[in-house]
Amino acid sequence: MKLEVISNLDELYTRGMELFKEAKENGAKTFGLATGGTMIPLYEKICASDLDFSTCESFNLDEYVGLPATHTESYVSFMKKHLFNQKPFAKSTLPNGEAKDAKAEAAAYEQKLQATTLDFQLLGIGVNGHIGFNEPGTPFDAPTHVVTLTESTREANARFFHSINEVPTEAITMGISSILRAKQIVLIAVGEKKRAALEALIHGEKTIDVPVTALQDHANVIVLTDLTI
Ligand code: F6R
Repeated sequence: MKLEVISNLDELYTRGMELFKEAKENGAKTFGLATGGTMIPLYEKICASDLDFSTCESFNLDEYVGLPATHTESYVSFMKKHLFNQKPFAKSTLPNGEAKDAKAEAAAYEQKLQATTLDFQLLGIGVNGHIGFNEPGTPFDAPTHVVTLTESTREANARFFHSINEVPTEAITMGISSILRAKQIVLIAVGEKKRAALEALIHGEKTIDVPVTALQDHANVIVLTDLTI
């Protein structure tokens, strides 16, 4: 794992954008993408760059269950607003949060992931150490699945909704095993709230209580952070 501490956020996000460029120059075709507040300045940098994803494919980490795709806070809406409308991919796939049978949708999404190789996976990190929506306690060999969001995650995401009551209670998330199959992983952790989770990744023991520690086993992880750990 390579830790890059960059205290200036503008420089940190420029570095994030450059990692996408490097990956593309090295032949990456399939990108795993993330949502969340951390990614907004990164996607702004990418949109302002000359990066071209028109021959690439993307898969997102997760989507809320039961939120209409047209809702402004659905992850498909987020991706269109912050990236896809400006930088379209040849094909972009997210789990369908409106599927009648969310479990069957999760299984179908996992099959799509198994049929491809993610050359590059972008990750944020939850205050509780989640990656994707793999909440504490998720086995590291879990495939894509339906997850009940923890109160901590719903509270953290309530800032995007009018109130916490509007935050969905379930999501479909790529599993940890699906994430670990990516050839390269870039994780971005910004702000004091992420310190404990990042400390666990860098200095802690591997434990399902802090899902991000699963990355300790991966051969090609770059962590971009403004935190000195
Ligand atoms: C989003 C995702 C989550 C977020 C994490 C951090 O697709 O999978 O793991 O990366 O919750 O969210 P922010 O960036 O809003 O702090």
